Amino acid sequence: MISIDLTDKQAIVTGAGKGIGRQVAITLAEAGADIIVADIDKTISNKTVQTIKKIGRKAEFKYCDISKLSDVQDLVNYPSKLDIFVNVAGIVLTTGLLDSSIDDIKRLFDVNIIGTSNAYRCALERMIPQKYGKIVTMSSSAGREGGPIHAFYRASKAAVINLNQSAAMTAAPHNINVNTICPGIIYTDMWKDILEGFVEETGNPDKKQLWDDYVKKSIPMGKAQTVEDIANGVLFLCSSLADSITAQAINICGGMCQN
Ligand SMILES: NC(=O)c1ccc[n+]([C@@H]2O[C@H](COP(=O)([O-])OP(=O)(O)OC[C@H]3O[C@@H](n4cnc5c(N)ncnc54)[C@H](O)[C@@H]3O)[C@@H](O)[C@H]2O)c1
Repeated sequence: MISIDLTDKQAIVTGAGKGIGRQVAITLAEAGADIIVADIDKTISNKTVQTIKKIGRKAEFKYCDISKLSDVQDLVNYPSKLDIFVNVAGIVLTTGLLDSSIDDIKRLFDVNIIGTSNAYRCALERMIPQKYGKIVTMSSSAGREGGPIHAFYRASKAAVINLNQSAAMTAAPHNINVNTICPGIIYTDMWKDILEGFVEETGNPDKKQLWDDYVKKSIPMGKAQTVEDIANGVLFLCSSLADSITAQAINICGGMCQN
């Protein structure tokens, strides 16, 4: 029987306070890893910590704003070793190409691009001397192509896909795997914010209908993804089953993207 065992592995998950990051942290813990729950929100993160402790694994909250290099340096040096670094933290900008403020675009790029760059750099600095590590980041199906909405978010996630390839090339000689996941559509707080924008745009206050319509028209399999779908992909990439997989952007999107 094939099983994934991450016993004795130490993992950091950013953005682990809620949504996809929370589930990634829980899933890695269920496979045996001890987890550092990194986020800017202590209150919600402590709930993730408590859930992991109930599973029987060690868990601790560490404050980290992923856009700040010194925070990420402190974070990667906190555990006694670093086997797994999953950078899930990210934000969305629901305004469009013509109506987004420069400050909002800069904040988006700071978190999604500089943040991912900090994650790759700091995790690699820690893992290269160990000659071992697994790094997974969160891109998006939105990063696969431009489109009529979320222009700057799409651009930020396209940058993650590209940076992932370069980070993987730097990591490859050191026995470190670097991959990014492109999730499709998952009903988290991030999507609740996006739906607020749809309400304003369409004048239709029925968020459930807007959600159902968007999922139906966007996803060939006809259903949204779950946080578990994405966490299971991360788990696979962090396991020895994926030892030969690096530099990849893996779509988990019900067929929304074909390349
Ligand atoms: N939900 C989706 O449909 C979807 C689709 C594709 C990609 N993604 C990506 O997946 C990731 C998680 O999305 P989600 O839907 O779970 O979002 P979410 O808003 O539900 O959760 C994001 C988490 O990141 C934390 N965070 C925000 N800024 C941070 C920062 N600067 N430093 C550290 N932590 C920070 C938040 O406190 C929160 O806990 C994001 O990178 C997002 O772009 C989401």
